[in-house]
Amino acid sequence: MSLAGKRILLVISGGIAAYKSLDLIRRLRERGASVRAVMTQGACEFITPLSVGALTADTVFTDLFDREDEHDVGHIRLARDCDLVLIAPATADLMAKMATGQASDLATAVLLATNKPVLAAPAMNPAMWSHPATRRNVETLKGDGISFVGPETGEMAESGEAGEGRMSEPLTIVAAVEAMLAGESDRPLAGKTAIVTSGPTHEPIDPVRYIANRSSGRQGHAIAAALARLGADVTLVSGPVTIPDPVGVKVIHVERASEMLDAVTAKLPADIAVMVAAVADWRVATASDNKIKKQAGEGPPALELAENPDILKTVGHHGERPRIVVGFAAETADVIDNARAKLERKGADMIVANDVSPATGIMGGTRNTVRIVSQDGVENWPDMDKDEVAGKLARLIAEKIA
Ligand code: C5P
Repeated sequence: MSLAGKRILLVISGGIAAYKSLDLIRRLRERGASVRAVMTQGACEFITPLSVGALTADTVFTDLFDREDEHDVGHIRLARDCDLVLIAPATADLMAKMATGQASDLATAVLLATNKPVLAAPAMNPAMWSHPATRRNVETLKGDGISFVGPETGEMAESGEAGEGRMSEPLTIVAAVEAMLAGESDRPLAGKTAIVTSGPTHEPIDPVRYIANRSSGRQGHAIAAALARLGADVTLVSGPVTIPDPVGVKVIHVERASEMLDAVTAKLPADIAVMVAAVADWRVATASDNKIKKQAGEGPPALELAENPDILKTVGHHGERPRIVVGFAAETADVIDNARAKLERKGADMIVANDVSPATGIMGGTRNTVRIVSQDGVENWPDMDKDEVAGKLARLIAEKIA
């Protein structure tokens, strides 16, 4: 989607993730948005107003009591002359001030004065994010109508510590901005329902062990969000993942393939089905109710496997088959031939084929190189971010269903 003509007021607060806000500005502007920035004093410790201003091509506002700026623009106008206020990064401190309605500097004054939608991209140390005070503040802000994107789980830039608290990637934030700004005119899937599966499945061996795979859920979650941005009413059935639920989507969390199948079929009829999950092909035939013990003198236990239901195939041949059924084909060899065969076998309209050989880094990574295989032939898409693949696929689905 284009953000042409949209005016974003970007509030940058003081966290190490502020360096990502420079790329965020670039991403917003290359989609046609104009970006005006407000920086807190803390933000200026991490990145300079000079670099922010060079990227926004506008004045950068930092001071509530700047006589020139207050006279020219003023904090009330700053707060209102925009289509959306985006806070990235949103620190624990800024959110605490917002939650208590403080207006002690320009950023907080603008946030208190605005009558526009506000989207926050939190970034902080995992301990700060999980602290009860931050949890309370986030709940308060949600209650006040503030939307959130992220944070994500990953390694922290400053400490190398891992956990939830890392600011979402710029393109994920851009996607959330687009979702919030999508007007009625750009919602070709309004009134349509979609089911998306995502992530791996966990197939229990016993109460503590399971069979799993390396799927992160990034591609499926991005597709669910992209369909929602185009107006579809989306249900995402997700296996166990560590990424946050996407914005604007109903999410059903499941563990096993059998649960995923039940959740998907319960949502039929639907207009669109996109089965992205890396469903385990096999489960353990009879999972043990108790932890399987190591027995002295006995060798390792044999695991008898049973085939899991094929969810895509079930949907593709269902009495209430959606009008558009899309499957994925993660292969390490003969990608196109396998995708063609899958199209037939699974009753899909389209197969998104990708090479997931370890060298590609696709499985679990943030980028993807896909080929779209349908009755019309094969379309090769260039290497893209998973959010971009999702946006393009959602558009293609909207065209096919029109
Ligand atoms: O046969 P294969 O696993 O390669 O097919 C991949 C496609 O089928 C994906 O779209 C995946 O979501 C779907 N699938 C499924 N249920 C299974 C296995 C695969 O829905 N049990």
